[in-house]
Amino acid sequence: MNKYLILVNKTHACPKNDFTLVPVVSDYKENVYLEKNTAQAFTKLQAFVKKQGYQIEAESGYRSKEYQEKVFKEVEQEKGLAHTLMYVARPGYSEHQTGLAVDFCLKDENDYHVDFEMESHPVLDIVADNAYKFGFIIRYPKGKEDITGYGYEPWHLRYVGDVAALITSQNLTLEEYLERL
Ligand code: DAL
Ligand code: ZN
Repeated sequence: MNKYLILVNKTHACPKNDFTLVPVVSDYKENVYLEKNTAQAFTKLQAFVKKQGYQIEAESGYRSKEYQEKVFKEVEQEKGLAHTLMYVARPGYSEHQTGLAVDFCLKDENDYHVDFEMESHPVLDIVADNAYKFGFIIRYPKGKEDITGYGYEPWHLRYVGDVAALITSQNLTLEEYLERL
């Protein structure tokens, strides 16, 4: 099993790991960090998407447990607990804490479009259809909410390496793939 196949979800806390975090240049914000190979893969995906005429930027990468707590509280205040539980992991239970997850946003002329603001945008299909080529899966797909525990998040990419091709072609979640191993 490759070292990237870590399962982090509502019942599996982020385990200790020795991944190397590196900075990722993002037009959207400063201080975005990702695991080294994840960062390289994201840069390649960005270049691919750019060739299709769209600009994606890293909107959120590595998050410490403390930062996740801040995100959880902010979203809870703004949108309530039910929505938050559907879209934000509890501190200690986010894949973002591994450095293997990246949320992308769309840069459109001079505006950034973050999460739900990209709804139905063609860039989502381009990413969904091609992310596997760079080792990413759409971690929270539509229709698999009962398995992943989260609502559809087309912007949340999870680096798994080469097995992304198989997971994607078989329309599996990471949970389903790992169970079949
Ligand atoms: N949005 C995902 C579930 C997270 O907070 O890690
Ligand atoms: Zn995310």
